[in-house]
Amino acid sequence: MSDLRTQLGEAVAAAFAAEGVDAGLARVTPSDRPDLADFQSNGALATAKAMKANPRELAGKIAERLANDPRLTSVEVAGPGFINFKLADAALAERAAQVASDTAHAGAAIVEAPRKVVIDFAGPNVAKPMHVGHLRSSIIGESLKRLFRFRGDTVWGDAHFGDWGFQMGLLIVAVGDEGKAEAFLAEGDGPFPAESPVTLDDLERLYPQAAGQAKEDPAFRDRARKATAELQGGRPGYRALWQHFVAVSRTALEREFGALGVTFDLWNGESDADPVMAEMIAHLETTGLLVEDDGARVVHVARPGETRKKKLADGSVIEAPSPPPLLVISSEGSAMYGTTDLATILDRRKVVDPDLILYVVDERQAEHFEQVFRAAYLAGYATEGSLQHLGFGTMNGTDGKPFKTRAGGVLKLHDLITQATDKARERLREAKLGDDLPEAEFEDIAHKVAIAALKFADLSNARTTSYVFDLDRFMSFEGKTGPYLLYQAVRIKSLLRKAGEQGLAPGAIVIGEPAERDLALTLDAFSQAVSEAYDKRMPHLISEHAYRLAQSFSKFYAACPVLIAPDEATKASRLALSKAALDQLEIALDLLGIATPERM
Ligand code: ARG
Repeated sequence: MSDLRTQLGEAVAAAFAAEGVDAGLARVTPSDRPDLADFQSNGALATAKAMKANPRELAGKIAERLANDPRLTSVEVAGPGFINFKLADAALAERAAQVASDTAHAGAAIVEAPRKVVIDFAGPNVAKPMHVGHLRSSIIGESLKRLFRFRGDTVWGDAHFGDWGFQMGLLIVAVGDEGKAEAFLAEGDGPFPAESPVTLDDLERLYPQAAGQAKEDPAFRDRARKATAELQGGRPGYRALWQHFVAVSRTALEREFGALGVTFDLWNGESDADPVMAEMIAHLETTGLLVEDDGARVVHVARPGETRKKKLADGSVIEAPSPPPLLVISSEGSAMYGTTDLATILDRRKVVDPDLILYVVDERQAEHFEQVFRAAYLAGYATEGSLQHLGFGTMNGTDGKPFKTRAGGVLKLHDLITQATDKARERLREAKLGDDLPEAEFEDIAHKVAIAALKFADLSNARTTSYVFDLDRFMSFEGKTGPYLLYQAVRIKSLLRKAGEQGLAPGAIVIGEPAERDLALTLDAFSQAVSEAYDKRMPHLISEHAYRLAQSFSKFYAACPVLIAPDEATKASRLALSKAALDQLEIALDLLGIATPERM
């Protein structure tokens, strides 16, 4: 049984067809005037306009055809030709019961044709601490991974670990210069030490230092470039040293992602595309796509006429191709960021053969992906449209610039989680929540509240917009926040526990009171929210639904007592509605990557 809005849409479309008019515009939407109607259709207006007919007359005929539908108690034409629908309480009750019994999907429809989808997200880098861009990508990507899987697709979340570019050469040279890696710098096949010569602290200290030095010192930069090319060329000592960098970084990152509730099915790095690199280069050469450009080799991706003005070093302005060509092999012979992305597409095709690859990466990388996707389509590595960049805005400080710590540095994920958990503890204590619980449980709750606050704050904004980081606001138990939603879920859990203690069980759902109707309509709306979030790749639509559901439940609970309802049948019905609301709320929160505690 599909959701009521879909069912109604089908009935209206059938009525249009029976009138012999195009059903294409027969859309049904939630009513603008919930006091008058549940749903409305403006289709007759648009259709009549296209046919140059009288809209009220057409609306009247459609309404007449639907007047005897048992799911509806009233069908009325309003204004210039809107049709207003009011659902029968019995239809709402039947639908609510169906949502209640659908423990896996809480009434949400799944896709008809499941696809194989790779979601490339988080994208952390060896040695570089993660910044807020990685944080947003992790939160949004995790949610999309869950959403696509929930709808029935087969999904691989891939961290696309940044382990192959120039930063690797920088590190090799920097670690060498500190005298930490003598054994690895020797030419030849080894063996090389199995112990890492560096710790995570070493890497995090050396990387920014080396990056800075490379900007000032051309000789240092050239050595780093050479080291990058030699690493990629397979020099055994460099590979062995690099493997230590990768392992040390990855261990730390996995711990941080674990704390954030973010997991990957594939922990592939840029380097994992290396085995297909030679084949790809050969293929790009034979197809004539790879061309010489000033010592480097590139793929031209702009179509004829796609240009933009570009200022040259001597101050003159030329019309340059736009997007610029994709740099595949640098003049030192190294593979670049775009090269590994292109090769990764080829590799994914061999391993997974996805129908769709979604890249959850900062909007500022839009041009990079445009270049890579065009090159992949030209080379035939993916079908047109199957590669999509899902950009997002930044998380800003109160100064409107990408968020930095007070010391001006990037905020490390670990520190952010600690800070949020401290604040969560404080808020819980203030609200006298969880103070009678064992220490370990209290800690678990504080952690869940912290993660809920961070994730919900991020995912309640449309993916494409930027937002301001404000931990105090995110952590409030009131308003549209993660902690508020957790609190509501816990409240329902406590109600259900009490009911259980009194020997009450959920029973047949009967709808009568306005607050019951509203809750049933809200439960029904989940399916649309999920499919729209999926189609638009916009998790905030799930957040909005979760908030609406929590509010609808809150009103219901205030207006319709459950444990002291007038009779046993009403208690059982309201208990069933409460349980359905909780199940759907927990599923919605889970789609956002948010876990709910049992109590607080
Ligand atoms: N490591 C990159 C960065 O830190 C992000 C990777 C995004 N994914 C990709 N396939 N390029 O900017």
